[in-house]
Amino acid sequence: MNQEQWTAVDRYFTDLFVPPDSALDAALEGSSAAGLPPIHVAPNQGKLLLLLAQVQQARNILEIGTLGGYSTIWLARSLPAGGRLITLEADPKHAEVARANIARAGLAEVVEVRLGSARDTLPQLAAESRGPFDLIFIDADKARYPEYFEWALKLSRRGSLIVADNVVRKGAVADVSSVDPNVQGVRRMNERVAAETRVSATAIQTVGSKGYDGFLIMRVHADPSAPAVGRPAGCTLKMEVAADGMRVTLRYFGHVTAVDMRAHLGDFSTLSPKISPGFSVLVDMSSLESMDNDCLPIMSRIMDTIDRLGVGRIVRVIPNHRVDIGLNILSRFHYRPEVPIHTCETLAEAIALLG
Ligand SMILES: C[S@@+](CC[C@H](N)C(=O)[O-])C[C@H]1O[C@@H](n2cnc3c(N)ncnc32)[C@H](O)[C@@H]1O
Repeated sequence: MNQEQWTAVDRYFTDLFVPPDSALDAALEGSSAAGLPPIHVAPNQGKLLLLLAQVQQARNILEIGTLGGYSTIWLARSLPAGGRLITLEADPKHAEVARANIARAGLAEVVEVRLGSARDTLPQLAAESRGPFDLIFIDADKARYPEYFEWALKLSRRGSLIVADNVVRKGAVADVSSVDPNVQGVRRMNERVAAETRVSATAIQTVGSKGYDGFLIMRVHADPSAPAVGRPAGCTLKMEVAADGMRVTLRYFGHVTAVDMRAHLGDFSTLSPKISPGFSVLVDMSSLESMDNDCLPIMSRIMDTIDRLGVGRIVRVIPNHRVDIGLNILSRFHYRPEVPIHTCETLAEAIALLG
């Protein structure tokens, strides 16, 4: 496989799914005539952004890195009446060309091109309370991607989508020893995202007219204003026993499998001597996304163990958006009636309740 073939296949799909469009074509021509570098997304990637924004039913979109406004036009076209898009650009010439392209596309009323380094304009947006944004597209200087991710998270809500472009970098992203600041920026962001319990992410590699690269796609699934809970590397479960043995905390992150759940059961055998009868259990599902069905029998054994150890009270955190999983799992277990069970929406509420 080679670039020629990737370009031919890109053309095939673009001919089928991305019909010629005078405003988008004019934006590319205008940018090229003004001497802007051809580092915009490919047409079929622009269409992907449009579809993502539509699926997301985005009304408020933020873009970091405008160039000539090509991806901006794609994204802005997804907006319903009353929707808004803010795009951040550091280079005055790029911003000027983008404004002209966006106006030609009939989107000047919907799009604000904000000139300045995103390092300054992102804090400005936060100070102006311009968020939360439903979709954030990160496509500026890659070395600063970790910072842009932090701001994207701050400017999000539960359910926001964050997309970062150019995260594969011809495969260099997998090279631990790379000294390229762009690769290092992307790697640091990826590691940060992997450890962030409020975000669920995956990356897709792409080949096409733009060569070999890819997108990182992230969904914010917990309230970003809530404190992050430390997630142990590579784990979806965490069990802690308080020093006095009076509280056991069980936390679930992301997608939990039966293998993880069995390890959890093993934790109980190791930690049970430290647990004092009458203890409280805090079951924190605020960062849980999904659980395999074959976890349920193991979960049942965990609950029996908790009961046998003399549990005094159970407090569970099941946020509204996870009520389906949380209640499905927990309703299957019958505790002794004398054991009170409280259900909270947030971890802060549960901690306050436990005192
Ligand atoms: C890859 S281009 C954006 C392409 C555009 N999203 C598209 O697909 O049509 C990156 C843009 O980010 C801008 N940029 C670089 N550093 C920036 C910064 N610190 N703040 C804001 N924009 C920046 C560059 O000037 C450039 O126009």
